[in-house]
Amino acid sequence: MKITVVGAGNVGATCANCIAQKELANEVVLLDIKEGVAEGKALDMWQTAPINYYNTKVSGVTNDYAATAGSEVVVITSGLPRKPGMSRDDLISINAGIVKSVTENVVKHSPDAIIIIVSNPLDVMCYAAYLAAKKPSTKVFGMAGVLDTARYRAFIANELHVSPKDIQALLMGGHGDTMVPLPRYTTVAGIPVTELIDADKLDAIIERTKKGGGELVNLMGTSAWYAPGAAAAQMVEAIVRDQKRIFPVCTLLNGEYGMEGIYLGVPVVLGKNGIEKVIEVKLNDAEMELLKGSATAVKSVMNVLDKMDII
Ligand code: LAC
Repeated sequence: MKITVVGAGNVGATCANCIAQKELANEVVLLDIKEGVAEGKALDMWQTAPINYYNTKVSGVTNDYAATAGSEVVVITSGLPRKPGMSRDDLISINAGIVKSVTENVVKHSPDAIIIIVSNPLDVMCYAAYLAAKKPSTKVFGMAGVLDTARYRAFIANELHVSPKDIQALLMGGHGDTMVPLPRYTTVAGIPVTELIDADKLDAIIERTKKGGGELVNLMGTSAWYAPGAAAAQMVEAIVRDQKRIFPVCTLLNGEYGMEGIYLGVPVVLGKNGIEKVIEVKLNDAEMELLKGSATAVKSVMNVLDKMDII
């Protein structure tokens, strides 16, 4: 089994490293357009194999898609990251063209691959990749909810001084400031979080979660990579090990939640076939309004993509 990660920047390299350490494949190929970067990072990673004790062979290539041929899963992280003061949406003019051409190259060499998009603006880049890939949407989807939920869970663990392992949560919507963490579907070892954290504190956690990526951009001058890379690798694991995990994933809606033709984060079952089921949880009126608001924000970026007329 071969897995490819396109983009050897911070997120792509971290993702490849997680995949190798978890031994999710015999081979991980890291590809980048910058001469030598993927080769160097892959070589560095491979030299951790005797220390971290894994067998997954890691190799890097410069723009050589032939080396990715026959991959079962491809993670696309290509494109520019945010700088302070930028929203994810500001990246569309550069990243849309990159994601389109990367996707076409990926599909040419791995026609059966399941494609996970990580590039921003995430929801619309998934849509661009779907159009470029000409594959069923069950095989082209995006990583955002696993990351955003992880941030939400980490903040709750901090607040309660408990293990992050015991926090279960659901978060829906786009990967932007309109994302919708759902306290009604958040539990701590089975206990509703609303019984453990006051409403105002929970609201503050929700607000911090929504701006969680921006908080890191402001601290580091570029966007995050440890959690985004690990989150994408967890989705790869669910697929290659056919785990049927339930994660919020950015997927094309076909009438679910009353929406159609838009990529948005919703809970799905993830297994060897990609998205095996979209789960429709009951939302109350207030939650539905928030989800619709998030969809409106994603649609406005989709309109920018349409006007670019590149797909
Ligand atoms: C973030 C980027 C990956 O949220 O979108 O950190």
